[in-house]
Amino acid sequence: MFRWRRDVRRFRHDAVPEAMIEQIVAAAASAPSVGLSEPWRLVRVDEAARRDAVAANFSEANADALAAQPDERRALYASLKLAGLRDAPVHLAVFCDDADGQGGGLGVRTMPEMKRYSVVCAVMQMWLVARTLGVGMGWVSILDPARLTRDLDTPDDWSLIAYLCIGWPEEDQADPELQRAGWEDRNGLAARVLNR
Ligand SMILES: Cc1cc2nc3c(=O)[nH]c(=O)nc-3n(C[C@H](O)[C@H](O)[C@H](O)COP(=O)(O)O)c2cc1C
Repeated sequence: MFRWRRDVRRFRHDAVPEAMIEQIVAAAASAPSVGLSEPWRLVRVDEAARRDAVAANFSEANADALAAQPDERRALYASLKLAGLRDAPVHLAVFCDDADGQGGGLGVRTMPEMKRYSVVCAVMQMWLVARTLGVGMGWVSILDPARLTRDLDTPDDWSLIAYLCIGWPEEDQADPELQRAGWEDRNGLAARVLNR
């Protein structure tokens, strides 16, 4: 199940209808959230200068990541396409508002990270809705979050959860791109589920 979901980094340049973008964004609003805190904050990034800043952020973070690879993996890492920032027609930065009091602190006393996990639930809902519409979504995490917050001029209390590229996929694939590239395999659940 969900084999069609895919992380997409290769986008066509044509626009996604605004009504579809609205449907995808609306999916965030019905996500579960700890204490009904709804801590997600979404920033649509359209301005060319800000997109350039995000692309530069990615380039530097990715160069650092490349340099940190062990010798035997470096060439393979360099060959991977790890973001579709230059091609995706829609960019969405997703944050968690760590300061907002909605939810009255219910559920976060012992595990404050639950607010951020709630935002991940919202991202996952957007991902699934996008893919059911045939729209591709790619999650970009190879970024310096402090720099991104400055470049997007977002509040200091918001922490970056995801930077999403959205657009029509160049092609549909049944298996992960990283698997096809020989980086990593899906290994299934057999060794990941314990009975106690
Ligand atoms: C939290 C998170 C962060 C990710 N960040 C990146 C990223 O920076 N670049 C990238 O190419 N893929 C990124 N991905 C996508 C994964 O590489 C992808 O989900 C994985 O290889 C499995 O492929 P699939 O999503 O197509 O099944 C991210 C996925 C998640 C869940």
